[in-house]
Amino acid sequence: MPLTIKLSSSSVLESSAEVIAVGVTEAALEKQKALVALDAALHEQLFVHAARAKFTGASGQVLDIPSWGHVAAARILLIGMGKIKRGVDPAALRTLAATAARQAISAASLALALPEKTSGPEALRAVGEGLGLGAYRFTKYFTGKRKPESELGAVEVCRSGRATPAETRALQTGLSVAGSVALARDAVNEPPNELTPEGLAELARGIAKRGKLKLKVLDKKGIAAANMKLHYAVGQGSVNEPRFIHLTYQPPKPKAKLVFVGKGLTFDSGGLSIKPAQGMGEMKSDMGGAGAVLALMDALIELKPAVEVHGIVGAAENMPDAGAYRPGDVFGSLDGKTVEIINTDAEGRLVLADALAYAKQLEPDLIVDAATLTGACVVALGKACSGFYVDDDKLAKRFAEAAELAGEQFWRMPLLDDLREQLKSDVADLKHTGERYGGSISAALFLQEFVGDTPWLHCDIAGPVLAERAKGIYPKGGTGHPVLTFVSFVESFG
Ligand code: BES
Ligand code: MN
Ligand code: ZN
Repeated sequence: MPLTIKLSSSSVLESSAEVIAVGVTEAALEKQKALVALDAALHEQLFVHAARAKFTGASGQVLDIPSWGHVAAARILLIGMGKIKRGVDPAALRTLAATAARQAISAASLALALPEKTSGPEALRAVGEGLGLGAYRFTKYFTGKRKPESELGAVEVCRSGRATPAETRALQTGLSVAGSVALARDAVNEPPNELTPEGLAELARGIAKRGKLKLKVLDKKGIAAANMKLHYAVGQGSVNEPRFIHLTYQPPKPKAKLVFVGKGLTFDSGGLSIKPAQGMGEMKSDMGGAGAVLALMDALIELKPAVEVHGIVGAAENMPDAGAYRPGDVFGSLDGKTVEIINTDAEGRLVLADALAYAKQLEPDLIVDAATLTGACVVALGKACSGFYVDDDKLAKRFAEAAELAGEQFWRMPLLDDLREQLKSDVADLKHTGERYGGSISAALFLQEFVGDTPWLHCDIAGPVLAERAKGIYPKGGTGHPVLTFVSFVESFG
């Protein structure tokens, strides 16, 4: 049953929901009206208990208490939001709503009290997004008792004052965006025997059909015919043949033309340069970039920004096999440059090289790519932050602002010129890997060889696509990172 949300001007205390949740800022609890009312309803025991439990409203804190029949709801959640910025803080509201929905995921209904003075479509959009994001679970492969018995069906968002039509709409838009993010999460969570390169093409077909978007899919033969020799090489060692996917969202009178390119390795065993067994299963998430690009295209169907957006996915499976590509091989590329293969585990940059060369031919204002590209980026920034590379300071600022609004962590990395010589080959135009140190940077420099003069922004998202535990807007498993950032970035052009 899908989640339904409505906006209400009454207090959570009047709600008949099973669970009530209150967003609490890190300020004196006695000054927050919703808490004062709740304390009165609970026979003045709330503040006493909060103090004992050391609940201060700090971000990430949750106080989960029974109502003992003093209010209609059986359970009360106080959710810490930290010190929120003055005015609207979409990231904090999104996290609040996601935390509330996740905590109440098995309850039939939830009433959520927003902090005082929360208003405007931007704020309510974030709340809608958060509720949908928090209510997400991947339960497809559970049977019998592992199947969840109940799920969150209805949420009442309580905020004093009358809702404007724009606010009401924004709340539903947010829920729809969360639905798109769920596509990316599902794609990462799907096992690699189920989600193959053809599976990504199927996903794109579904999106194209729903939004009446233009779609082009190339199979193995088509990839060869199109001269994408690097993409072909990566896919040649698997029975699950590669696919090249190109979706187009074309509004009337676009203000800009953007191309998003996603790495779609549905499984990365490393190929002949095989990975160690430990953690290899996580490489089902090596299509996180592709999942994000497809999810973005899905979100545009509802958002309808005045921006022409192309979504491109290079999909393949990297496997060791008698037909697999080898270290020492040399291949041409769509761009024309020849590449010497050093390590078959550096497959992502090969697939992307051809996809970027294709993207360049579309003559866009900007190419953005997202790839679970290097372990080195995870070493540099940790599991919860992506690296991004861009030459242009203005674009960097614009992208960082989009990420901040989205509540996703990104850090700008440098395209260090002096590392470029690591990519010189004795037998071809380029070697495709450099040294271990600076591995995320040399991967970015390799990609840069294929974009020419087209403005380009590269995201190494190897860490955040998959989470070891639920935190903030992200569940355990596939997170949907960086879909919200991409959505917010595209909207900044519309
Ligand atoms: N998909 C991996 C990168 C990766 C590592 C993603 C850890 C998520 C978590 C990529 O294809 C890869 O194997 N990169 C190599 C490159 C190396 C051989 C130059 C790496 O990072 O070790
Ligand atoms: Mn690899
Ligand atoms: Zn990979």
